[in-house]
Amino acid sequence: MRKYSFTLNNEPVVVKAPPAYTLLEVLRNVLNLTGTKDGCGKGECGACTVLINGKAVNACLMIMEQVEGSDVTTIEGLATDPLGSVVVRAFEKEGAIQCGYCTPGMIVSSTAFLSRNSKPNIEETKEFLRGNLCRCTGYSKIVKAVIEASRG
Ligand code: FES
Ligand code: FES
Repeated sequence: MRKYSFTLNNEPVVVKAPPAYTLLEVLRNVLNLTGTKDGCGKGECGACTVLINGKAVNACLMIMEQVEGSDVTTIEGLATDPLGSVVVRAFEKEGAIQCGYCTPGMIVSSTAFLSRNSKPNIEETKEFLRGNLCRCTGYSKIVKAVIEASRG
């Protein structure tokens, strides 16, 4: 076991985990924060997206040594984030959620995207969504939700 210190949703945390553990495993298996989903486990689906130092990353690809000292925000932390909560409401309003498995990753990615580009067009939004897979919605409601969120 190794000890890792980082900031999680604005709170300092210290966790003990095996050296090969990924951030996704620590979030779900050690800290019991199950909002971050385990989809493919190999960086292809975006279900595990979290923010590290404000940037959207796949938690399944981050080993804990890379996370040490970082500022991590998960879907649980976005509930109280001004932009994150606008994105959550927009997803609800547009009905951009079906089974919900992709939704936390979509919302985290969308929040990072809108923090860089506050007025995206539809093409830019579709391009950004390529990193997050959804088997249910056909994406159009998700694109609408991101555009809706950009309007505040
Ligand atoms: S679970 Fe991480 S990208 Fe799919
Ligand atoms: S809502 Fe089911 S995978 Fe996106």
